Amino acid sequence: MNVAALASRKRVPRPFVETANLPWHDPDFSRRALREQLNQSHDSGARSEPTIKKHVRFIVEQLRLKPGDTVLDLTCGPGLYAKHLSGFGCSVVGIDISPAAIEYAQGLAIPNCEFILGDVRTVDYPAGVDGALLVYGALNTFSPEDAQLVLAKISRALKPSKRLVLELCNTSCFYAHNKSGNTVQGWWCSDQGDLWSDGPYVALKERFYYPDEKIEVTRYYIISEGSQRIKEYTETCVSYDIPSITEKLHKAGLRLEAVYSSMLPEQAAQQTAHDGVFQVIIASKSAVPESASNSEAAVNEATA
Ligand SMILES: C[S@@+](CC[C@H](N)C(=O)[O-])C[C@H]1O[C@@H](n2cnc3c(N)ncnc32)[C@H](O)[C@@H]1O
Repeated sequence: MNVAALASRKRVPRPFVETANLPWHDPDFSRRALREQLNQSHDSGARSEPTIKKHVRFIVEQLRLKPGDTVLDLTCGPGLYAKHLSGFGCSVVGIDISPAAIEYAQGLAIPNCEFILGDVRTVDYPAGVDGALLVYGALNTFSPEDAQLVLAKISRALKPSKRLVLELCNTSCFYAHNKSGNTVQGWWCSDQGDLWSDGPYVALKERFYYPDEKIEVTRYYIISEGSQRIKEYTETCVSYDIPSITEKLHKAGLRLEAVYSSMLPEQAAQQTAHDGVFQVIIASKSAVPESASNSEAAVNEATA
């Protein structure tokens, strides 16, 4: 993109039609994302090691895991949760679309862990898992139809009565909730590389909210030092309140069991389930085996 194309851009893009999500699958983007995911000085892209250790304690407890159990980690990134789950004695199947993250996770050679490069919306999941996790708001970035499909696939993969830890972005943290409904524009610059560029860059950012769909889109234009091309990225986020996620879970054959404001006990103790940055949903598959066929139907319905 050049300056003229930027100036004549579509002012308000249609979510999931004229916007996408961050290109995690792109080798360069995924390499830069991995660097940020492994950076222990901030929590963007992935939490730091001490936080992940505490999260894994929460996950083990909520999923009621025992050594020997198999856990499905969807959008697993570089395997940071798998490492600790394996330490507890679980096997982990991690799926992520980022080539750099999967290569890194495979390189860790964590006992009893398998990492699959793939899109969680389309790749097959293993059957008969004892628990599943989908953390850091990844489900919010999928279209509502894709989110339904992913939940149905999770339900189908779980053994009866087994559970899912689903960490969603909290609705109340969406820009939406300043209720202005207006586009917000801003800019920043960096003198060194990060997620957006390998070197110095200027970034322009605009944010749109679509109140009817409860969707927020953030569009970024990155102007990198030495590059003639302005790069465009979009990030699309769907917000779910408890009734809407409960309904989605139900359609997938899952039941909402509990909601927490955080996977960290100290934060969960201080906040109500509504005022954290995330909301942690615990859902279970029915103990009755027939629900497997229900979730099979839910996958078929979601893919139809
Ligand atoms: C914020 S990071 C979180 C990584 C990991 N869950 C963690 O918390 O450490 C989001 C991850 O989702 C992955 N991702 C995004 N869309 C995906 C998709 N459709 N299929 C599989 N992975 C995806 C990205 O590659 C990235 O590693």
